[in-house]
Amino acid sequence: MERHAGDGQRRHGLREIYRANTIRGMGMKGVTQQALEHYEDREHSLVKHAILASYLQRCLMIVGQWSSKIAYIDCFAGPWKSQMSDLSDTSPGIAIHLMADCQATLQEKHHKQVRVRSVFVESDAQRADLLDAHVQQAPTNIVRPEIWRKSFQDAIPEILAWLEPDEFAFVFVDPFGWKDVIESSVLAPFLKRDRTELLITFMWNFINLATGHTEQEANLTAVFGKDWQAANAYSGDAKHRQLMRRYRQQLTTACDGSGLNRLRTAVLPVEYANKKKVIFNLVYATHNATGLVVFWEQAEHVVAQQSRLKLQHRLDHVAKQHGQNDLFNADAHQDEPHLPSYDLKQAWLARLPNVDDVLVVDTIVMADLIEATDGLLSDLQKALGELIKDGTIENVNAKRPRKVHVVNYRNKEQLRRLK
Ligand SMILES: C[S@@+](CC[C@H](N)C(=O)[O-])C[C@H]1O[C@@H](n2cnc3c(N)ncnc32)[C@H](O)[C@@H]1O
Repeated sequence: MERHAGDGQRRHGLREIYRANTIRGMGMKGVTQQALEHYEDREHSLVKHAILASYLQRCLMIVGQWSSKIAYIDCFAGPWKSQMSDLSDTSPGIAIHLMADCQATLQEKHHKQVRVRSVFVESDAQRADLLDAHVQQAPTNIVRPEIWRKSFQDAIPEILAWLEPDEFAFVFVDPFGWKDVIESSVLAPFLKRDRTELLITFMWNFINLATGHTEQEANLTAVFGKDWQAANAYSGDAKHRQLMRRYRQQLTTACDGSGLNRLRTAVLPVEYANKKKVIFNLVYATHNATGLVVFWEQAEHVVAQQSRLKLQHRLDHVAKQHGQNDLFNADAHQDEPHLPSYDLKQAWLARLPNVDDVLVVDTIVMADLIEATDGLLSDLQKALGELIKDGTIENVNAKRPRKVHVVNYRNKEQLRRLK
């Protein structure tokens, strides 16, 4: 049953958890713990909402610098299992708040007049009613959000007709299931459209289960393309990687020859709160290299938050068993640093194969590296740091060795192969 309880006293939601990185050693209930309370039985949605919010915020602020028209389309809007009267624990609540915030900041601080519109597609009448009531209160500096009471599949041609040719579109595809929704053939009209980005919830738990059932072969071929069965020879992480590579390839192939730049994708796996197992992947697709790098910068924070959430979930469980609710909080937790993997070093070296080769590192190089390796930016930086430390590569523009921003890709720094 969905809950829409009054929440006057509970204000620690997503905005606070985004800042959890900087909060250390709180002696009271931590922000991670409070946020988890709002996401009981759907803890993984907290990770989804964290990346949606943190990326959307940056995306709107960046796109608003060059586009005067932005549209947000939530194809499976909900609200689903919300516990907040302002829907701030749902994708519509988060997006509407951010759209209004960014529109105002763009106007006041950057003197950019941006028209921000949105469509929320929801096939369930009761949920659509809740949304309808919510958007009546939406800030008026954005166009009143539209609620479309229909199925995503029926809405696709209408969404494409509704979008103006020069309008930037962010499309969120967040279904419960997968069939007839996330296949490249279904999403192709969006993938092919210029100025369009997608965030897709890929229900790995269901799809992985389906790979064991012969009657699902045709459905899975629609997702992964021909000969996907070869990936069944693998298990665990390797199978996950193989099949997700195939899916990403299907998305890219669907828009070959369309769009100014080729389609790029990144995958952020989201795990169950209580086990080391992927429940769904968030697949991001864009034609813009900077978009991919910005998404991955935000993903890095969310990966750290995810590990704190999982730790907090375990701590809460232990505390409950001992009848002590508020003792432990995971906000100060940081994962142990780990050594860069060999593959990431190889990925750098492949771009500088010979002594004296020079590489200008910009967002396109970084986007290529992210796509090729799935390595986090911090790990890619660490791997490069190792190569610089052992004298294989130098950063021509760095006055002294750096530990974190080993190469600054926004400044297009140059690397040279020394040996
Ligand atoms: C996972 S929930 C969405 C959660 C929401 N995006 C969030 O993050 O808060 C999926 C929603 O899609 C709706 N739905 C299911 N099938 C649909 C369809 N074919 N077209 C549109 N909406 C659908 C369900 O009623 C449900 O509200």
